[in-house]
Amino acid sequence: MKKIEILPSLLAADVGDLRGGVKRAEENGADALHLDIMDPHFVPNISFGPDVVAMATKTCPGLYRNVHLMMLRPDLYLKPFAEAGAQTIQIHVEAACDVAGTLRRIREMGLKPAISINPETPVERLEPYLDLVDEVLVMTVHPGFGAQKFIAECMEKMKWVRARKPEIDLMVDGGINYETGRASVAAGANMLVSGSYLYKQADMRKAMEDLRHG
Ligand code: DX5
Ligand code: ZN
Repeated sequence: MKKIEILPSLLAADVGDLRGGVKRAEENGADALHLDIMDPHFVPNISFGPDVVAMATKTCPGLYRNVHLMMLRPDLYLKPFAEAGAQTIQIHVEAACDVAGTLRRIREMGLKPAISINPETPVERLEPYLDLVDEVLVMTVHPGFGAQKFIAECMEKMKWVRARKPEIDLMVDGGINYETGRASVAAGANMLVSGSYLYKQADMRKAMEDLRHG
C-alpha cells in the first residue's frame, strides 16, 4: 500500500492572502501544494499563472509544487511554469497538443510528468500515456471551479488505472472531503487534492491526518 499524500488546493485559499494560504498548507503538514492553472479556452474560468507558482516557491521552498495545467495548449507554457518552480506538471489528455511529446518534454526538463482526465472522457484514452508518466490525475468534478460535488462514477477510472499500474501515483481532484477521500483511497488513489473542504477547517492539520489515516 502506497503512502497517502494530501495536497491542499490553493484555489480555495483566501484570494486576498494567497501567501498565507501557502504557509497554512505547509504549517499543517501538507505533503505538497496543488496549484490550479486555468485558461478560459479549456475551462469556463481563469485562475492564476506562473507568478503565483513563483510566490509559492519563494514563500515555502520546501513545500512540493504540483501544478495542474487546465489548459488547451499546455505545451506553450512549460518553460514559465518550470522557471517558477513547478515540480510535477499535470497536463490533460483532452489538451489540443501533442500530449505524448509534451509529457516527454516535461521529463526532459527534469520535472515529473502527469496526465489528467476529465469526468466525461473515456478512461481508455489514458492507455497510450501510462508508460510516459509518474502520476495519473482522475478528475472527479468538471474542472473550472472549486467546491463542486464529487462525481462518484469516476471511481471506476481509479480502479482501471490501479489494476494496470500497481505502483503509479494516482491522484484524485474535485469534491474531496473525508468520505469521498476515503472512498477514493479504497478505489486505488494514493494522492488526494482537497480545496474547499481543507481550507474551511478550523483545524486543517487534523482534517489532513484523518484523510491520511482513515
Ligand atoms: C477544479 C480544480 C480543483 C479544485 C478542487 O477545477 O482542478 O483542484 O481546486 O477544489 P475542491 O476540493 O473544492 O473541489
Ligand atoms: Zn486541480
